[in-house]
Amino acid sequence: MKQLRVGVIGGGLMGKEVASAFGRWFMLNDVPAVPELVAVADVNPRALDWFRQVSSVKQFTIDYHELLANPEIDVVYAAVPHDLHERIYSDTLLAGKDLLAEKPFGIDLDSASRIERHVGQRFVRCSSEFPFYPGAQRVYQYVRETDLGELLEVNAAFLHSSDMNPAKPINWKRRVASCGQAGVMNDLGLHVLHLPLRLGFVPLTVYAQLQNVVKTRPDGQGGTADCDTWDNATLHCNLAGDVPMRLEMKRLAPGETNSWSLEVLGTKGGVRFSTKHPKTLWTYAGGAWTATDLGHASVFPVATGGIFEFGFPDALMQMWASFLTEREGLLGDRFGCATPEEALQSQFLWNAALRSYESGCAEPLPTNH
Ligand SMILES: NC(=O)c1ccc[n+]([C@@H]2O[C@H](COP(=O)([O-])OP(=O)(O)OC[C@H]3O[C@@H](n4cnc5c(N)ncnc54)[C@H](O)[C@@H]3O)[C@@H](O)[C@H]2O)c1
Repeated sequence: MKQLRVGVIGGGLMGKEVASAFGRWFMLNDVPAVPELVAVADVNPRALDWFRQVSSVKQFTIDYHELLANPEIDVVYAAVPHDLHERIYSDTLLAGKDLLAEKPFGIDLDSASRIERHVGQRFVRCSSEFPFYPGAQRVYQYVRETDLGELLEVNAAFLHSSDMNPAKPINWKRRVASCGQAGVMNDLGLHVLHLPLRLGFVPLTVYAQLQNVVKTRPDGQGGTADCDTWDNATLHCNLAGDVPMRLEMKRLAPGETNSWSLEVLGTKGGVRFSTKHPKTLWTYAGGAWTATDLGHASVFPVATGGIFEFGFPDALMQMWASFLTEREGLLGDRFGCATPEEALQSQFLWNAALRSYESGCAEPLPTNH
């Protein structure tokens, strides 16, 4: 099997999850490449230190340019604050590396458009792992293969209670300067939109309700800091045929922890899945809802078969398997990671949502996106 050397830029939350996913790669069957984490760049030496327990990592640097200059590295995974996306993604592509980028793929629409111009011949995808849950895959399959009758509505959500405590100190995700004007949409939005876009549910207009409820937070040094990002976003979109699609992205969702869900309803059939109940797929037919238990029926099979439950680290590993398989040109009809074009499409929606908040009206989206 082909060995691929990966460098991580940004060894925070997501950098660590990626190291963990690579560490149990031997559980996957039928993936044509094995990723090896060989280098980490982070401006924070303490973040670098965590990676010293990963024996494959040979390069530790506080300057990501040194990592990009390393000829051994085939693929870069960059997981840094949003204000650094444009510079670091562009430098990565100009250095001739392939890239698994993190969402939102630039701090705003202009930034995302500029990054896209550097893609050229490089293989680039954007992180969005929730569609790789077996339940999400079943929703995808069901909508494509089942006669739902007239489409009634689509509802997708990604909900967190992570910010319910107003005493939680501020961090970069709660500041417009580093998270972006779109706030929670930049943070959680591509997760919500990726699968609907793949199913052809493209918003034509959007009416946005945006809430900034917690306006200040402790700054971690005894004072307070402005917390100027949107905490919650509820987007009422219109699809072709006047079908409503509601997208919810919330950091203030009481009791919710990483709850991703998608529901598609038609006059004859319907389907819904939430990571809140990762084993359960709900389908509607003949006037009744039926719950089906799901096993580990993942896109890329695992060594222990389908008997155990599936979770977030599994989804991340599946996404990487899809990325590396597609990079080898061997994905076939299996599910692929979010493309730069889809990331850009999401940025068009957040941009229109911000305009809608200002105007108080539903705003149109460009039809070629
Ligand atoms: N796919 C997912 O499920 C998911 C989940 C959370 C975050 N994210 C995304 O991942 C990215 C990072 O988020 P996170 O939660 O890991 O953030 P984090 O704050 O935990 O980690 C970011 C890391 O980047 C480092 N960094 C800052 N400037 C740097 C520079 N110039 N060079 C190298 N490293 C630098 C920081 O020191 C920190 O260790 C964001 O784009 C975020 O939206 C994705």
